[in-house]
Amino acid sequence: MSFDNQKSAIEFVLNWRPQMNGEIRTREFSIDDYEAAIDLWREVEGLDIAEGDDRESVRRFLGQNPGLSRVATDGSRMVGAALCGHDGRRGYIYHLAVDPKYQGRRLGKRLVAECLEGLRRAGLERATIMV
Ligand SMILES: CC(C)(COP(=O)(O)OP(=O)(O)OC[C@H]1O[C@@H](n2cnc3c(N)ncnc32)[C@H](O)[C@@H]1OP(=O)(O)O)[C@@H](O)C(=O)NCCC(=O)NCCS
Repeated sequence: MSFDNQKSAIEFVLNWRPQMNGEIRTREFSIDDYEAAIDLWREVEGLDIAEGDDRESVRRFLGQNPGLSRVATDGSRMVGAALCGHDGRRGYIYHLAVDPKYQGRRLGKRLVAECLEGLRRAGLERATIMV
C-alpha cells in the first residue's frame, strides 16, 4: 500500500477498522470464552476486574444462570461480552463490553436486548445493569 503524502497515511491509520470476517454473531457465553472475555474487559475503559472475576467464580455464575450471558464474535475474535444472571426476583447485567474498534455499531444494544430476552424467558420482569 502506498500513500501520496503523510496526511493520507495518517488518515488511513486513524480510520482503520479491523477487516470484518462477515456477520457479527452472538451466542451464549461459555466458560471457554473466559480468557478472551478477560482480555476484552481489560481493554475497555471503565470496567474493573475485581474479586469474583476469577475463572472459577465465572464458571459458577454461568452454571447458576444457564443460557443468559452472551458474547459477540467476528470470526474467531471476541468483540463483545455481557454477564447476565438473576436472583429469582431481579435480573442483573454485569461487565457489558464491546471492543472499542466495534463500538457505535449497536452491538452493546444487541447484547443487552439478548440478555433481557433471556431474563424474560426465565420469568424475570425487572433488571439492573451494573456500571
Ligand atoms: C457501553 C458500551 C458497551 C456500548 O457499546 P456500543 O456497542 O458502542 O453501544 P451501541 O452502539 O449499542 O449504542 C447503544 C446506545 O447507547 C449509547 N451509548 C453508547 N456508548 C455510550 C456511552 N459510553 N455513554 C452513553 N451512551 C452510550 C449510544 O449512543 C446508543 O444510544 P441510542 O440507542 O439512543 O442511539 C461500550 O461503549 C463499552 O464497552 N464501554 C466500556 C465498558 C463499559 O462502560 N461498560 C458498561 C457497564 S460495565
